[in-house]
Amino acid sequence: MIKKCLFPAAGYGTRFLPATKATPKEMLPVLTKPLIQYGVEEAVEAGLNTMAIITGRGKRAIEDHFDISYELEHQIKGTSKEPLLNEIRSLISQCTFSYTRQVEMKGLGHAILTGETLIGNEPFAVILADDLCTSTEDSVLKQMIKVYEKYQCSIVAIEEIPMEDTSKYGVIAGNLVDGTDDTYRVTDMVEKPDPKDAPTNMAIIGRYILTPDIFDILRTTKPGKGGEIQITDALLEQAKQGKVIAYRFKGKRFDCGSVDGFVEATNYFYNKTKG
Ligand code: G1P
Repeated sequence: MIKKCLFPAAGYGTRFLPATKATPKEMLPVLTKPLIQYGVEEAVEAGLNTMAIITGRGKRAIEDHFDISYELEHQIKGTSKEPLLNEIRSLISQCTFSYTRQVEMKGLGHAILTGETLIGNEPFAVILADDLCTSTEDSVLKQMIKVYEKYQCSIVAIEEIPMEDTSKYGVIAGNLVDGTDDTYRVTDMVEKPDPKDAPTNMAIIGRYILTPDIFDILRTTKPGKGGEIQITDALLEQAKQGKVIAYRFKGKRFDCGSVDGFVEATNYFYNKTKG
């Protein structure tokens, strides 16, 4: 059973400066909810209750968000504003949150390795909160848990992207399994290839289920693209043993790490509230 979800949240969010100068990018709100809360809700919907958050300097607002604010509670008790805290209160009561700091920014693989102390020796999920996912069916992570239950190996969520965008993503190649049209056994993975070098246009989005042997692999993974330790490179080691499945999820993803994606997500959720 997968119970733990890791949230790498130490990055600087430079694409959103100056907004992210003193505010973690994970705390930027889409409507009234910060991005990371959407991620935690998705994890809870998938049956996970242990949130492990990799933070860094300037990220304390995340810890405060997933905690009771007694002063605020006192102020709004019995007023019409009180229900606005219902969702976050419910998350706080259903989950535990633990934090560790990534003291140096050495890439996503390094951030995930920093989380080993919070995860231990068990399979776990990873959510990159700036990929905001929504689905009319099961949440994307819940869909992936079902795939994990069948294949019992690492799972990455993928979507098809325009070929010219391959340099923004990890890209996979693989073969469809068991007569499905959405589940691939991964044969190759490349981090942010030029379109001319990309094996396909199937891009990894910010949802992973990882088996814990990934930590040993990450310990010896050399810096790759951009001089950073890449989770894509570590996963390739598992893929070479046939132990990575890529799953084309059902639903929608917004790249809230970019201003365009953020605005799109905001409009989408706004229109949804208007029915
Ligand atoms: C990271 C991963 C990349 C993946 C992407 C999904 O890149 O390194 O493989 O496709 O997340 O959002 P980042 O967006 O952090 O540069």
